[in-house]
Amino acid sequence: MKSEELSKIAEKINQCTKCKLHETKNNAVPGDGGKDSGLLFIGEAPGYWEDQKGVPFVVAAGKILDELLDSINLERSQVFITNVVKCRPPNNRDPLPEEMNACRPSLERQIEVIQPKVIVTLGRFAMDYVFKKYGLPDAKIGEVHGKDFEINTLNGRMRILALYHPAVVTHNPSYRPVLLDDFKRLGELIKN
Ligand code: URA
Repeated sequence: MKSEELSKIAEKINQCTKCKLHETKNNAVPGDGGKDSGLLFIGEAPGYWEDQKGVPFVVAAGKILDELLDSINLERSQVFITNVVKCRPPNNRDPLPEEMNACRPSLERQIEVIQPKVIVTLGRFAMDYVFKKYGLPDAKIGEVHGKDFEINTLNGRMRILALYHPAVVTHNPSYRPVLLDDFKRLGELIKN
């Protein structure tokens, strides 16, 4: 059931022409991974390799994400991974507000279908989106990373955990231990 719904959303994303990004993309990146673990990771937007392959978090950022997941014995197949924006912004520039708005219904629908118990935001765009959606106050990632926020939804209790974007490690390796440490909190949350 969830698989079917998620495939329908992916189909729509693949055909979407609501913003200009569809003109320059090679592949849309709807998202993929485990549908039933209740764990949803949201990143920013596809990069070069994601756009080539149509898969989120591959190559550099993907390698780091895999290492982080592995540090708490999670496999990629156990978590659903998507992005705020599903098509690559040219030259990896920041997504524009109109691009995020155009993608909003797809992400909203993915959240509705997955009914996550934990949403992990990767980077500030995903954090801003999710904090706003659930009525959390504006936050700075440097202050809230690794802390979790509990939300009551119609489907029960949900936690939100804001993390730095894994790609930060490729520019600044000193973030690796910070991310590894923040992932430990995720390891605790999924036990409870
Ligand atoms: N960065 C993101 O935010 N998302 C991806 O899918 C890849 C890199």
